[in-house]
Amino acid sequence: MPVVVNLNGQIRPPAEACLSVLDRGFLYGDSVYETVRVYAGRAFMLEEHLSRLKRSADPIGIPMPLTSAAMAREVERAVAASREPEAAVRLIVTRGEGSINPAPEAGLKPNLVVIVRPFERLPEAAYHEGVAAIVVKTQRNAPRALDPNIKSGNFLNNILAAREAAAAGAYEGLMLSAEGLLAEGTTSNVFVVSGGQLATPDERVGLLRGITRELLLELGGRIGLPIAVRDVQEAELRAADEVFVTSTLKEVLPVTRLDGRRVGDGLAGPLTRRLYEAFREVVAAFVSGAGAGAGAGAGEETTG
Ligand code: PDD
Repeated sequence: MPVVVNLNGQIRPPAEACLSVLDRGFLYGDSVYETVRVYAGRAFMLEEHLSRLKRSADPIGIPMPLTSAAMAREVERAVAASREPEAAVRLIVTRGEGSINPAPEAGLKPNLVVIVRPFERLPEAAYHEGVAAIVVKTQRNAPRALDPNIKSGNFLNNILAAREAAAAGAYEGLMLSAEGLLAEGTTSNVFVVSGGQLATPDERVGLLRGITRELLLELGGRIGLPIAVRDVQEAELRAADEVFVTSTLKEVLPVTRLDGRRVGDGLAGPLTRRLYEAFREVVAAFVSGAGAGAGAGAGEETTG
């Protein structure tokens, strides 16, 4: 099936999965969400995504409509209904339907939406040849204005940056903080290699603590490639020997052109490759059923 929706427990095709136009997710982007990857019919790192969804919702006072275990089952039901082995899940909790007034009234009923769509990963060549990125002019939201660790449906900051990147023919836009430090990509975290050392920006600068980023920090330590979490100046980014971005859907993707200039020798660098391979091994172990990355015992329960 091309796209399947689970709306508050009801499995529907997208055209029949309807919410009110008074839903605050539609009116204000007043919602939180996660993007989860399905490999071989099972949701990868689902437990981590569900924890982060709650961490996004708690500080803005959106209650979770279900327990994490029940939410995992709703994701699995939608994944099973889609019958797509390779898929992307968008899991959304909106604050619910209310009046047109930014201040939410008490007692709103959150809506749970799970959208499962087939997903084709980038061709393998992209992981050798890399993609083009630019440094965009749109600054990343300052944490004290709108903390990027709240993964909310209010996505305009990233949309503006993504439009800049697309207009420049780049695959990803890299965003700086107001202080000019590297923050993150429009839908990814960023890593650099300079002087043989790996680094990724500290979350204090204003970025989403990506689940792929966290996994790489752990894998890097495990395979003897420690990754420093620290400030990265724009100049360091531009002079880096290797740059790569990470996300649930992009995995570990080399950036080999930055603002039209070659990064390193113009192909995925050696440290990027080793981390890419380490990541793919985790996925392979997950797919074969041995993976520690499974999360939530996700696939085991109701998909049979
Ligand atoms: N985006 N930073 C931003 C702003 C993101 O939107 C994302 C993910 C990431 C990487 O996080 P993770 O490794 O947990 O996917 C970083 C998802 C894929 C999306 O918006 O669909």
